[in-house]
Formats: sequence, structure tokens, C-alpha cells
Amino acid sequence: MQKRKVYIETYGCQMNVADSEVVAGIMDNNNYAMANDAAEADVIFVNTCSVRDNAEHRVHQRLQTLKKYKSNSPGVVIGVLGCMAERLRAELIEKGNIVDLVVGPDEYRKLPELVENAFSGEKGIAVRLSRVENYDDIVPLRTEGVSAWISVMRGCDKFCTFCVVPFTRGRERSRSVKSVLEEVRRLSDAGFREITLLGQNVNSYRDGDSDFADLMEAVSSVDRSIRIRFTTSHPQDMSEKLIRTIAENENICKYIHLPVQSGSDRILKLMNRTYTSAQYLQLVEKIESIIPAVSLSTDIIAGFPTETEADYKQTLEVMKQVRYDGAFMFKYSPRENTKAWEMGDDVSDEIKVQRLNEIIELQQKISLEQNQPLVGKTVEVLVERESAKSSDEWMGRTDANKVTVFPKGNAKIGDLIKVKVHKVNSATLFGMIEQAKKEIPEYRVAVNL
Ligand code: SAH
Ligand code: SF4
Ligand code: F3S
Repeated sequence: MQKRKVYIETYGCQMNVADSEVVAGIMDNNNYAMANDAAEADVIFVNTCSVRDNAEHRVHQRLQTLKKYKSNSPGVVIGVLGCMAERLRAELIEKGNIVDLVVGPDEYRKLPELVENAFSGEKGIAVRLSRVENYDDIVPLRTEGVSAWISVMRGCDKFCTFCVVPFTRGRERSRSVKSVLEEVRRLSDAGFREITLLGQNVNSYRDGDSDFADLMEAVSSVDRSIRIRFTTSHPQDMSEKLIRTIAENENICKYIHLPVQSGSDRILKLMNRTYTSAQYLQLVEKIESIIPAVSLSTDIIAGFPTETEADYKQTLEVMKQVRYDGAFMFKYSPRENTKAWEMGDDVSDEIKVQRLNEIIELQQKISLEQNQPLVGKTVEVLVERESAKSSDEWMGRTDANKVTVFPKGNAKIGDLIKVKVHKVNSATLFGMIEQAKKEIPEYRVAVNL
């Protein structure tokens, strides 16, 4: 009998991307094949995000367009997975009547059984959060490539007041060092060139006596030719030991995503971020003194409840002081059941947009200024894929995570090569592969002399 086919569409953060690979692994173990297109699938999973209202809005719209697959072949099973499943539960099944399954992030082992039931007409909901589930033993089904994700911890205990993640992902729990190292070995054997360790608060990882610095040390020594990255780190858990571990291991990228969210101490307190802007800046100073070549990026929210013009100006100040290489910048979006929800949403949309635009403008200016000194310099780039704009060019990233585009030359995907930068903008470096210097044969040296 031909295998049934599953199509997975993923929204949201890298944790969700990694989870979709776990789901694919589970379905693969249960005799399903993967489909590249919803049109050819018997099962359509939408792995969703709830972090901001517009993330949910996109998924609602997508569910509308998926209706046509259901009307073309009524036997198709449609499942909503991930954070929206956890947050909205039965509501998703009731609304519009095209969703058969609603399965939260800790219940993916149940998918094969739930899908079987759905084929015989039974709708299903599984949204229990677990204190232990970390899919340790599931081999994620990855598409071939250069970079791989490994979720090393799940959940979040920080409870920033604006954030739904602690509610949609549940309590923090870490995988064992042993199982992470086994996965790294497997990825090294399979030829992956870059591994990113993932967690909502990846640096609060703990397995017995081992903390995140110990894990990074161990992971980086499995295969020194593999680049190691990690995301996201919370400033509170950015220990000096971890900073030193990043500095001391050549294959750990000198790039840290360190969300600040706001520059105002009053707002940081209301956000429950557990640091002041001075403490954050001290941390940045410490990181820069231990890793002089470090590249930093951040997340910023504009228009948190009660944010005044003065608060917002302080955010701009922090940005000017740190001079991030990049930032993800968002308009505050109230989320039901969070603490901030109860604080109201008093900053008007107009002001939020205005502040966000100014934040984006400032960051673009800083990013450009950060990139300009790279013109004329040589950077090391891991070749990832064809450039979206031209089939004659490759796209890759530097150690500092800067997107770099250059003519293909003899390079292949997966190569680590030297590129001489000749032009930059705020988001991209443009360059040429630097030819390895030809050694002049000795006899010619002799003749020329
Ligand atoms: N655990 C990570 C990422 C969480 S979600 C961390 O702590 O950094 C990614 C980013 O989305 C957050 O850093 C925050 O800037 C933003 N975000 C989360 N909730 C939001 C909300 N309700 N409105 C606007 N932005 C939000
Ligand atoms: Fe959300 Fe804060 Fe946890 Fe990040 S640390 S996932 S922003 S609650
Ligand atoms: Fe979104 Fe859930 Fe990730 S809310 S950002 S998919 S943890």
C-alpha cells in the first residue's frame, strides 16, 4: 500500500522549526511519507505561533485557504499544532469546521494515533503540557542542508509579563548532555557544517551539574570543523563562565542574541525582565571585554503599556550605546492571560507605529555603520544556498551571522571560504571569493632572482 503523505507548514520561532522536524520524525517512524506540497498530502499540519496577534492572524487566514483542500478531498486531515493549539484549544475546531486535530507542543507523540482516529472521522484535542517531555529519543527528520537545529531545552520559567510562551510551552526542562552529544555526532557524520542549540532561554539549560557553558564546551569539541551557535539567551543567565567558553572555543560563533526589550528601568520592571538598563550595559561591557570581536543583536518592543516618550527615548539610548549589529523590533501586542494584559494597552497604535519606525530607522543606520568598516576586509563565510536574487551567486553567513552574497566561483554549498567584501548595506555584505594565493614554485623564484 502506498504510504500516506504529510505536509507540514511552520510559523513562528526556530523552536517551532525544530519541532516540525520532530513531528516529521514521529510520522516517518509511523510509516508516513513527507509531501512537499499541501495539494498532494493526506495530512496537513500547521505548526503555529501565538507570540503576537499578527502571527495568529496569518494562521487564521491560512486555515481559510486550506479549506479548498478539504472540499476537494474531504478525507484530508487538517491539524493545528504548536502554540496556537495550546492557547486556543477547542475554539480552533469549533471555528469554521475544517480543523480535525489540535495538538500542543508537548503532545506530538500522540499524533499518529490521533491522525488514525481522524481518518475515521473522530476529531481530537491533545494539549496537556508536560514537565518532562523533551523528545530526547526522537530523531528529527531534517531536510538535507548545511545547518541543523537542536532543541536542548523546552519551555520557559521567566514569565516576562508580555509573553505567552510560558503558557504555550510550559515549564523549563532540559535534555541530557549525553543525548545532545549523540545528536551532534550524528549530525557531524551526516555532513552538517553548522549546529544551533535552541531554547527559549537556552542559557538556563541544566542537566545535573552541567550548565549551558559545560554543554557548549562539550558540543564544540565533538567536531571542531562544525560551527556552533545558540539562541536565545536571557541576560540574567549570561554567566561569565559562558562568555569565556564562547571566547575560548574557536568554532563557537562570536555572536550573541541578547534581547533587551526596553531601555527604561521602569518598563523593564513592569516587564519582569529582572535587570536594569545599567546592569544590561555592564553585561555588554563584560562580554565585549572578554570577546572583543563579538557581534550582538537584540529584540525590542515599542509601546508596552504606560510607555512614555521619555521611556522610549531611553530605549534609543541603549541602542546607541550598545550599537547592535542587528535587531528584531516589534510593536507591543497584548496577549490574553499575561500579566501585561491586565495593564491595559494605553499606547495608541499610531504612537506605537511611530516609535517602532524610529527604532527601525536608528537600527538600520547603526547596522550600516557597523558593516561599513568591513569593506575591503576578508570574512569567512559558510556557503548556505543560492542567493534569492541571482542563480549566479551564493548566499552564506559570517561567524558574526552577517548575510554575505558573492559570485559562485568554484565554491559549493557547505564550503567554508574566504570572501573579500567590496560593498555593504545595513543587512548584507557583497563580495568576491578570495583566491587562495598561488605558491610560486621554487625554480621560478630562482630564475627570477
Ligand atoms: N525567549 C526568547 C524569545 C521570545 S519571543 C527571549 O526571551 O528572547 C521573541 C520576541 O518576541 C521577544 O524577545 C519579544 O521581543 C517579542 N515579543 C514577545 N511577546 C510579545 C508581545 N506580546 N508583543 C510584542 N512583542 C513580543
Ligand atoms: Fe517570553 Fe520572557 Fe520567556 Fe523569552 S524569557 S520566552 S520573552 S517569557
Ligand atoms: Fe511563537 Fe511559540 Fe515560538 S509563541 S515564538 S512559536 S514558542
